[in-house]
Amino acid sequence: MVGIDVDEDKVRALNAGKPTVYEKGVSSLLRRASSCGRFSGTTHFKELADAKLIFICVGTPSVEDGGIDLSVVESAIRSVGGVLGGKFPLVVMKSTVIPGTTANKVKPLLERRSGRKVGVNLGLCSNPEFLREGSAIRDTLFPDRVVVGAEDGRSGREMISFYKRFYAKHTPPIVLTDLGTAEMIKYAGNAFLAMKVSYINTIARICEKIPGSDIEVVAQAIGLDPRVGGRFLQAGPGYGGSCFPKDVSALISFARRKGVDTSLFEAVQDINTSQAVHVISSLGRLSGGLEGKIVAVLGLAFKAETDDIRSAPSIRIIDALLLRKARVRVYDPVAMENTRKVLRDRVTYSRSAKESLKGADVCLILTEWKEFSRLTPGVFSKLMRRPLIYDARRILESRKLGKSVQYHAIGLGS
Ligand code: UDX
Repeated sequence: MVGIDVDEDKVRALNAGKPTVYEKGVSSLLRRASSCGRFSGTTHFKELADAKLIFICVGTPSVEDGGIDLSVVESAIRSVGGVLGGKFPLVVMKSTVIPGTTANKVKPLLERRSGRKVGVNLGLCSNPEFLREGSAIRDTLFPDRVVVGAEDGRSGREMISFYKRFYAKHTPPIVLTDLGTAEMIKYAGNAFLAMKVSYINTIARICEKIPGSDIEVVAQAIGLDPRVGGRFLQAGPGYGGSCFPKDVSALISFARRKGVDTSLFEAVQDINTSQAVHVISSLGRLSGGLEGKIVAVLGLAFKAETDDIRSAPSIRIIDALLLRKARVRVYDPVAMENTRKVLRDRVTYSRSAKESLKGADVCLILTEWKEFSRLTPGVFSKLMRRPLIYDARRILESRKLGKSVQYHAIGLGS
């Protein structure tokens, strides 16, 4: 397997067995694959000449109107189209692109550059990616489903036969459809999950108004109904990451252009934005004003098991804390380097959760790292000036904390 990127530093790092994103297990897997010659990185597209399958996995960042920037996809297709060899090389679109992109943009560009014809001497599929950051290996090896979109029979058949060989007796359900539907499935899936998060965050805010009410119990109980489903009902500070925010925006922009009402998705976005505001105003109220207060922020990554802070709620919330003149100290087990690049010297960086808690007025938990759930009440009460905890991820158990700390949490009625 050959991995191609135009970024020489990235290729060098990958060849040295150093992944460019954090995920447990990726580094050893990469080193193993490199050392036995099953993976190598390169910047040279000509190394694709013998490839039977070419996965296009480049980014499709947001543009101002919420749509997506296709320039990297186009440039990758131009480069790939110029070097294709063999009888029927199959180009597979993994990048998330709005419905119609593969048929109307990728296909003509690829045919022009390669001088080939899709379905005759060139294969083209849409094969959206559903892996989650932090569990990419598991999601790749054990996906819930595989979606294959194709216009011609041979491309679809070859793609399915590849997955059947790859997964053998563990082959998941495979949905074969046309290119546009496959592209739509990715957006529909992510928008639905984002909707679930905004839904549960709204219910959490209502729970907070009911004394003794607990969103965790509500979510667990409604999740037992298979029509609802128990996953993605974890109330928190709002969704972030490189997919949900971008994909919901792109879906809105696409649907608007097609004249379809987008109010549902706009509400999903608005609730997500206001969830950060909700955290800040709760903190302000509970702490008696944030100005001059030392706030220890535990967790910066947009979720646990990753070092990614793209569109992370932590950044929105820290910006608001700083606006309110709070003194912010931050700690995350793996996302410190990425955070430094964004927040620079506007906050204080701690080497551990405990260091960050020393003398703090407020502890704000924003990422569900396991190590934070192991902090005992004694740690908070001994180290903090005033042991006020706001748990935006519900990782601490209020029952076990006792009276030595003042515990508040998303979705917990007080
Ligand atoms: C998502 C999709 O899940 C995946 O299928 C797609 O391929 C890429 O986008 P990812 O962005 O890695 O994956 O993270 P995900 O686990 O989906 O979480 C997204 C955000 O929602 C995170 O900020 C997470 O903290 C938040 N979330 C998720 C909640 O707040 N509550 C939940 O119950 C689940």
